[in-house]
Amino acid sequence: MIVDLRSDTVTKPGPEMRKAMAGAEVGDDVFGEDPTINRLQEMSAELTGKEAALFMASGTMSNQVAIKTHTRHGDSVIVGEGSHSYLLESGAISALSGVLPIVVGKGGTYTKAEMVPAIVGRSVHNPQTTLVMVENTHNQGGGVVFPLKDLAEICAETHERGLKAHLDGARIFNAAVALGINVREITKHFNSVSFCLSKGLGAPVGSVLCGSKLFIEGALRFRKMFGGGMRQAGILAAAGIWALDHNIERLSQDHRQARRLAEALEELPGVEIDLNRVQTNIVIFKINRPGLDSLKLTVRLKENGVLALPVSRERIRMVTHLDVDAAGIDHAIKIFHQILG
Ligand SMILES: Cc1ncc(COP(=O)(O)O)c(C=O)c1O
Repeated sequence: MIVDLRSDTVTKPGPEMRKAMAGAEVGDDVFGEDPTINRLQEMSAELTGKEAALFMASGTMSNQVAIKTHTRHGDSVIVGEGSHSYLLESGAISALSGVLPIVVGKGGTYTKAEMVPAIVGRSVHNPQTTLVMVENTHNQGGGVVFPLKDLAEICAETHERGLKAHLDGARIFNAAVALGINVREITKHFNSVSFCLSKGLGAPVGSVLCGSKLFIEGALRFRKMFGGGMRQAGILAAAGIWALDHNIERLSQDHRQARRLAEALEELPGVEIDLNRVQTNIVIFKINRPGLDSLKLTVRLKENGVLALPVSRERIRMVTHLDVDAAGIDHAIKIFHQILG
């Protein structure tokens, strides 16, 4: 038995999703003529409460096109600690948009009080802040949900100052399901929102960037510039539509499985885990055993059919998803007991 907990991106499309893909009507999307992509975009705009949306090849492309559209070279951008958009997207924030990331807060989330002193005003000397970014849920932060109150205060301040707010919502449906609210209660605070189809939602490819009509017009040009103008990609969009129709509510199962795994890990000697941070489908723990670092432990796990991802010398990440059932979690817990118990 192989239980792949490295990421929620490892899911494979099932027969129903593949059927939807095979039957998709397609056209040349660079001419705006792919009816399935157009439908996915309309659906995504509606879901997030925005005027328009744009299908993207990846979450990275969504975030980087958003940053490019909102900023000019030499600006600065507020980001949370460990954010994907500045640390895990190959330096694109600097390479493609030429902006300076200013890191605030701890563990991925931050408050208005932490943000305000970091904002750089307009002056001939300074990298003026023009964009504020929030990642929700926060990947490196262990899948934590950005507190709604902080997010509302941060965005209100951002708008009052005439700055823009972008939400990296790669896993925004995990956040909405965890909070038991409509996703619009989160997205309404932001000028733009990116969400991924290929993570917890289980589609093979894709992300959607949502915002005002004017913003999406700008983003369309940068998507082309970044090489993201796809043609008959409706076969991919069809998987995204299927995922949005079928795989949002079930995310709560992934959250329950992650919790069960985390609670079992907490009991093991040498495992340090903060259960308060296990709020969605991500479990990050620290291994603190002489002679056993994260690399060695992941090798031992792999030998026993459990795949996990070392994220530093001491920390390991595991993510639950559509293709891991209760028996898979039982197996992972059994193997952890064998190795560490
Ligand atoms: C929070 C977050 N944003 C963006 C991305 C980028 O997505 P992609 O891998 O599709 O480029 C990821 C990927 O893991 C992520 O976790």
